[in-house]
Amino acid sequence: MEKILITGATGNVGLTTLKLLESKNYPGVEVVAAVRDIERARKIEGIANCNFCQFEFDEPSTYDRALEGVTKIVLIRPNQVSDVSRYIFPFLAKAEQVGVKHIVFISIVGAERNRIFANHRTENHFKKLSIPSTILRPSLYMQNLSTLHRHDIQDHDKINIPGGTGLVNYIDVRDVAEAIVTVLMIPGHENQAYDITGPEVMDFYQIAKIFSAELEREIKYTRPSAIKFVRQKLVDKKMLLYVLTLSLLYNAVRGGKMNYTNDVFRSITGHDPRHLADFVHEYRACWIKPEKKEKVKRTRKSLRLPHI
Ligand SMILES: NC(=O)c1ccc[n+]([C@@H]2O[C@H](COP(=O)([O-])OP(=O)(O)OC[C@H]3O[C@@H](n4cnc5c(N)ncnc54)[C@H](OP(=O)(O)O)[C@@H]3O)[C@@H](O)[C@H]2O)c1
Repeated sequence: MEKILITGATGNVGLTTLKLLESKNYPGVEVVAAVRDIERARKIEGIANCNFCQFEFDEPSTYDRALEGVTKIVLIRPNQVSDVSRYIFPFLAKAEQVGVKHIVFISIVGAERNRIFANHRTENHFKKLSIPSTILRPSLYMQNLSTLHRHDIQDHDKINIPGGTGLVNYIDVRDVAEAIVTVLMIPGHENQAYDITGPEVMDFYQIAKIFSAELEREIKYTRPSAIKFVRQKLVDKKMLLYVLTLSLLYNAVRGGKMNYTNDVFRSITGHDPRHLADFVHEYRACWIKPEKKEKVKRTRKSLRLPHI
C-alpha cells in the first residue's frame, strides 16, 4: 500500500498533479492532498471527493498528522514559504523519521546554480537526507501568462515582462504534472535531477504575435526594464519576494540562460510537451475582454448552446 502526500495541492502544479493522480486510480495507492483549508479546497472543481489533510508549512504541529502512513511525497514549496530552514527542513526531518521512501521535489530552472533561490537551498538539503529524491526543474510555466500576467494582456493588450530580446521556453503545468506522476510511480528515477523544458524557444515579440493571432487583436510586448517591472508589480500589490524571484528569472531570460530546450520530458513520458500556441488557444477565454465575454454569454443564452 502506498500513500502519497501532495503539498501545495490547491496551486498550479499541485492541483493538476492531484487530479492526474486521482484519474489514474492506481491500485493500492492512496492520495492525500495537504491543504491549509479543507473546506475551501473541497469547493475546487474536480477534487471534492479527494482525501484531504490540514497542513501548513508554518505550523509544525500539523506535520505529524499529515505524515501518518505516508510513503511518498510530492513536495511543492509555496513561493510564500521562503525561510526553508525554518519550515521546509523540519518537515523533511519528520518525513525522514517516519520512513518516507521517495520525495519528488519541484524546483525551478537554474536553481542548482543560483544560490539566491529558496529552491537552491532545498535541493542541497536533499543531499543530507537519507530519503531518495527526484528533483524536477521545470522552466517557466505557461500558466504564468493566464494568472500573473493575465490582467496586462486581457485589459491592457500588453505583455509586460522584462525579458528584453532574450529567448525563453515555456512549459505547461499539465506536462509538469505528468512528469511528476511518471517519476513518482515508475521506479528508476530516484536520486536524479532533471531540467524539463517546453518544446520550443521564442522571444516575447513572437509570443505577443501568438496572442495577437489567437485573440484577433493586437497584443504588444512592452519590453519594460527590470526596475519598471518590479515597481509596477509592487504597485499591483504582488508579494515582494515573488516579484524579485520573477525578476531574477526574467533576468536569466535576458541573459540567454533559457535559450534552450531538451528532450527530457519526452524521454520520461514518451511524448512531446505542449506548444505555447496550443496553450493560448485552449485558454483563450482568460484573455478575452470582459464586455466581449458578456456578449458571447448572451449569444449562448439566446441560442441555448451548452457550455463546453
Ligand atoms: N511560476 C513558474 O514559472 C515556476 C516555474 C518552475 C518552478 N516553479 C516553482 O513552483 C513552486 C510553486 O508552485 P505553484 O506555482 O504550483 O504554486 P502556487 O500556484 O502559488 O500555489 C501555492 C500552493 O501552496 C499552498 N500554500 C501556500 N502557503 C502555504 C503554507 N504556508 N503551508 C502550506 N501550503 C501553503 C497554497 O495553498 P492555498 O490554496 O491555501 O493558498 C497553494 O496550494 C515554487 O517552488 C516555484 O519555485 C515555478
